[in-house]
Amino acid sequence: MHVRRKLVAGNWKMNGSLAALGELATIAAAARSAGGVDVAICPPFTLIAPAVARSGGLAIGGQDCHSQESGPHTGNVSAGMLVEVGARLVIVGHSERRADQGETDEAVRAKAETALGHRLQTIVCVGESESEREAGRALERVSAQLAGSLPDLRQEAELVVAYEPIWAIGTGRTATPADVAGMHAHIRAALEQRFGEAGGRIRILYGGSVNAANAAGLFAVDNVDGALVGGASLTAAQFVPIVEAAARS
Ligand code: PGA
Repeated sequence: MHVRRKLVAGNWKMNGSLAALGELATIAAAARSAGGVDVAICPPFTLIAPAVARSGGLAIGGQDCHSQESGPHTGNVSAGMLVEVGARLVIVGHSERRADQGETDEAVRAKAETALGHRLQTIVCVGESESEREAGRALERVSAQLAGSLPDLRQEAELVVAYEPIWAIGTGRTATPADVAGMHAHIRAALEQRFGEAGGRIRILYGGSVNAANAAGLFAVDNVDGALVGGASLTAAQFVPIVEAAARS
């Protein structure tokens, strides 16, 4: 059995402002006093550098990166650029990018490979839609996404998987602990099958309407090694109780 330290990562999506970075000091102080848990915030690109300056030791990350190092890709940001301004992690393959930008598993895998090569901790997101779950195809869908989106492991940086059922994101509907247990066990088995013993060390986060009220219940589930938090990561008041629940679990 591997002991995996919990990771609570906030995904600000297209929210936040310079003024909102004032939340970071409170989150950092709470993370330090809770202890034993890794805490990160991924703000929009424009806020990464000022967030690093005010992070108080929190890890700051990006919400995406390009698979290429540089070149004619208007509007995109490379992994090297994230590293240069102090980012320590990146999220790739979020369902909103898969939907809005048409990112395929192959594209997500290429981004993840580049990010790991730049020593960024890389969170690869997977998750089924509501219709796929209703059709009983959730496990199959996530298996296909894992097979297509996960890069081979590299020694220089950590790969993390985030399971985010699309129907639970931003909806206030969280997957039940039983559903989460089933899916996370399924993901763990897939990771061990592909990566052997190293698959037991990969952290699997749950994401989708995680909040102060449901966090402790989710963290108690086997193979839930933390959370990827959207809406409830925007303020310290909502995010700190999730960090504290992770530290207690
Ligand atoms: P939510 O978003 O917590 O607002 O549901 C989670 C995510 O999309 O990462």
